[in-house]
Amino acid sequence: MNVYDTSQMKNMLRAKGFVYTEGINEADLIILNTCHIREKASEKIYSELGKIKILKNQRKKNNLDTITVVAGCVAQAEGEEIFRRAPVVDIVVGPQSYQTLPAMLENIINDNQKQQINLEFEVDKKFDFLKEEEYPQGISAFLTIQEGCDKFCKFCCVPYTRGAEYSRPSHEVFRDAMKIAASGTKEITLLGQNVSAYEYTGPENTKVKLGELIRLVASLPQIERIRYTTSHPNDMQDDLIEAHREEKKLMPFLHLPVQSGSDKILKDMNRKHNSKQYLELIDKFRKARPDIAFSSDFIVGYPGETEQDFKDTLSLIKEVGYAQCYSFKYSMRPGTPAAEAKNQIPEEVKTARILEIQELINSEQQKFNNNFIGRTLSVLFDRNGRYEGQVIGKSEYMQSVHIDNGKHLINKIVQVKITKSLQNSLTGELV
Ligand code: 5AD
Ligand code: SF4
Repeated sequence: MNVYDTSQMKNMLRAKGFVYTEGINEADLIILNTCHIREKASEKIYSELGKIKILKNQRKKNNLDTITVVAGCVAQAEGEEIFRRAPVVDIVVGPQSYQTLPAMLENIINDNQKQQINLEFEVDKKFDFLKEEEYPQGISAFLTIQEGCDKFCKFCCVPYTRGAEYSRPSHEVFRDAMKIAASGTKEITLLGQNVSAYEYTGPENTKVKLGELIRLVASLPQIERIRYTTSHPNDMQDDLIEAHREEKKLMPFLHLPVQSGSDKILKDMNRKHNSKQYLELIDKFRKARPDIAFSSDFIVGYPGETEQDFKDTLSLIKEVGYAQCYSFKYSMRPGTPAAEAKNQIPEEVKTARILEIQELINSEQQKFNNNFIGRTLSVLFDRNGRYEGQVIGKSEYMQSVHIDNGKHLINKIVQVKITKSLQNSLTGELV
């Protein structure tokens, strides 16, 4: 989501005469687009701001001004506090109001005004403004269709930082998808914090849900691959499962976070589903699309998690047989209910559990990848590798696939025979 928002900010500012630079030393404007999901991500911002302060002072000596912006969810969560902790910051802008950035910059550059802040939830206006802008071009593109979340899992800051669920009008999504397709993009990933809750009510109360939206996007001939992320198990409706059965452009890979395998912890997290329901859902998808693969997120050391709860999570991982997974130590987020719980888990227990879960996840991933040796996968090549002539692409299952002497294959989908499998990537040759 932040990658998408960043590209939108870049487009928006390009229209105002700014040019993007890789070199921070020559930047007149520095934007930190921030993530608040865990403490580590959040705290990193202040060390970055320390470096920016030194840079700003050096540039000042050469009569160069530097404007510093903190955008994104840390901006939303901490607001004015950021100015107090880091006076080097000129603008604080939340993730649902960055369309006001050009006006705020104007206030500083032309009117010499001091620190600006906007934390409004203006999500509809945000897209209204962005629609005039150019869309990012690339082999694979993100497209936001939904924002915010109403689920309120007890550990999570998203409902507070991104606000309530909002689905963009389907015709606007389609128009953006057409622009992306026209730019030569082959793969679109539809984005939302809770993308499976997508529902747009159009004229005469007609409703468009995610399954139908996927079919709409799939009708564009240039688009060959569609993905969507991230979903909540309770919103996976039948029209979506049907889309997996019928729509060949919809990739057979689904990120479906479960967070824990323990029913007690799932209940405490306010996930509103248990492990059996999750496994039944996985089965439903497998019946609709037998070759589908899954990934998930897991939190270890959630308040009250016993050794048995943790073991239940490990069992669930083995039972599903994931293609890949992300795992995190539980991190207390200010203002969320779980942060208030008295039964927090000691850091050393969290560390032991994260090491154990990651070992299992890695071995499951290796096992999944080993299955493909000798088989053929369809790969979209999107970048150059480390060695001359080597190119890297993504399989339908999101595996990185490397091949040699493949420069001419960039932006093509080709059949590759897999010859070697590592935990994080596959190597192959052209069929
Ligand atoms: N601590 C640890 N991990 C978290 N996530 C969300 N909130 C927290 C938290 N407080 C993880 C969840 C989610 C992913 C995006 O981040 O696993 O699915
Ligand atoms: Fe956070 Fe996802 Fe739960 Fe929403 S569904 S509160 S984004 S973890």
